[in-house]
Amino acid sequence: MQKTFYIKTFGCQMNERDSEIMAQLLSEAHYLEASDADDADLIILNTCSIRAKAEQKVMSMLGQLRHNLAKKPNLKICVAGCVAQQEGVNIVRKMPHVTLVIGTQNIYDIVRALEIAERGGNKIVTSLDDTYRIPHFLPQSAKGENNNPSAPYRKFITIMQGCNNFCSYCVVPYTRGREVSRNAQDIIDEARTLIDSGIKEVTLLGQNVNSYGQTNTVIDGKDKGEYGFSDLLYAVSELKREGLKRLRFTTSNPKDLTDDLIACFGSIDILCPQLHLPLQAGSNAVLKKMNRKYTTESYLKIVEKLRSVCPDIALTTDIIVGFPGETEQDFEETMRMLNTVRYHGSFSFKYSPRPGTRAASFEDMVDEKTKSERLMRFQKRQDEICLERNQEYVGTIKSIMLEESDSPPLLYRGRTESNHIVHIQEGIQGVAGDIVDVRILHAGQHSLQGELV
Ligand code: SAH
Ligand code: SF4
Ligand code: F3S
Repeated sequence: MQKTFYIKTFGCQMNERDSEIMAQLLSEAHYLEASDADDADLIILNTCSIRAKAEQKVMSMLGQLRHNLAKKPNLKICVAGCVAQQEGVNIVRKMPHVTLVIGTQNIYDIVRALEIAERGGNKIVTSLDDTYRIPHFLPQSAKGENNNPSAPYRKFITIMQGCNNFCSYCVVPYTRGREVSRNAQDIIDEARTLIDSGIKEVTLLGQNVNSYGQTNTVIDGKDKGEYGFSDLLYAVSELKREGLKRLRFTTSNPKDLTDDLIACFGSIDILCPQLHLPLQAGSNAVLKKMNRKYTTESYLKIVEKLRSVCPDIALTTDIIVGFPGETEQDFEETMRMLNTVRYHGSFSFKYSPRPGTRAASFEDMVDEKTKSERLMRFQKRQDEICLERNQEYVGTIKSIMLEESDSPPLLYRGRTESNHIVHIQEGIQGVAGDIVDVRILHAGQHSLQGELV
C-alpha cells in the first residue's frame, strides 16, 4: 500500500512554499497526500519560530501527537522549518517519538533523509551552509497557492533564502542562514512553467527581496550586485506576452528600497500597485536599537516617492509594540506614523524575546500589560483607517481577478490589483483567474462589495 503524508504549515509564505516543495518531492517518491492528519502515515510540522507563541504551538502539537502514535505505532513524525533549525537536537531530547528533524536548507533532501532516519540513522539534519545555493529546479505542484484552494491561478516563487540584516529582535538570520539569491534564469524558467500550466499571477518571495543579487552572482556574465531586483522584475514582467497578468513581491526592507525599484511601479504595468513595507516602529530611537538602518524621515520620503510614481499604491506594514525600552512617547511616534501614512492594512505584534537575538538580552523590557494596551490602541486605530481607506474605493471601477467559489459556474468573489477582496452578490459567470471590471458599491473594514459593469 502507498504511504500517505500530511503537512501542517505554520508561519510565513516562505514556509508555505517550502511545504509545497516537500509535498511535491514526497508525491514524486510515491507518497499520497492525506486530507486529514489522522489518516496519514507521515505527519510533517513545518514550523515557525518568529515569536514565542508560534514555537509553543508547535511543541504542544508535538506533545499531542503522542496520542496518534499510541493508536498508530508506525506513524512517522517529522519537524521541519524554523523551530527545527533553531532547536535541532533539543526537539528529539524532549520528544523522542519524533522521527526526523529537518532544517530549512535541507528540505530538498527530505525523501532520502526520511529513509535514513526510518532505518535508524541520523534523526537530525539541520546543516546551515554559508555557501548554500538554492537548487536550480524547485518542484511546483499543479495545485494553486498553498493553503488557498480558492486561488488556483496564483503561485509563489522563492527567489531568495536567508537574511543578513540581523534586526536585533529577529530569529530569521539564525533559522534561515545567510542571504542567498537564486539564479535569475531558474526563476524565469519556473515562472514560465507556471504560466504554461495556467497560472496568471505570481508573487516573488524573499525575506528582503530588495537586496536580490547583492550577495552572490545571479546571472551568467555579470558580477554580484550588477543584476538586481528591478532587473529581475523587468525580466519576469516580460512573461506578460505568455499570459502572466499580475506580478507581486514580498517582503521589502525599507533600507534597501532603491529609486530604480520605486520606478518599477510606474513602468511595469502588470506589477500590482501594492507594497508591504514593514515599518516596525515609529520612533528613531527604537528603530536604531532594532538595527533597522532607516529613519522615519527616510521612510516617509520613500512613501512620498512611491505615491508620486503610483498615486493609488496600497501600502501595508508590520509593527512591533513594546520593544525593549519603548517609552509612551516612542509608541506615540508609531501612532503618528500610522496616522501619517494611513496604511491600507497592517500586521502588529507584541515584542517577543527570541533565543540568540541581541534584543533578548536588552534590559529594559516592557511589561506585558503595557504591550497589550499599546497593541490594542494601534489595532483599533488601524481598523478605523482600514474602513476609511476602503470607503475611498466606493464608486470607483476596479479590475478583479476572480477566485473560485463553492457554487460554480457563478463566482462570487475576486481580488483587486491592490489585493482587496471584492464580493459580488449576484455572482459572475467565469473561471477563477479571469479578470473582470466591477463597480465598488459598499466598503466594510475587511472587504468591498461590488457589481459587474
Ligand atoms: N523579512 C521581513 C520580516 C519577516 S518576520 C521584514 O524584514 O520585513 C515578519 C514580522 O514578524 C516582522 O516584520 C516583525 O514585525 C515580526 N517579528 C519578527 N520578530 C519578532 C519578535 N521577536 N517579536 C515580535 N514580532 C516579531
Ligand atoms: Fe528579520 Fe530583519 Fe531579516 Fe526581516 S530583515 S527577516 S525582520 S532580520
Ligand atoms: Fe517564521 Fe521562519 Fe517564516 S521564523 S516567519 S517560518 S522565516
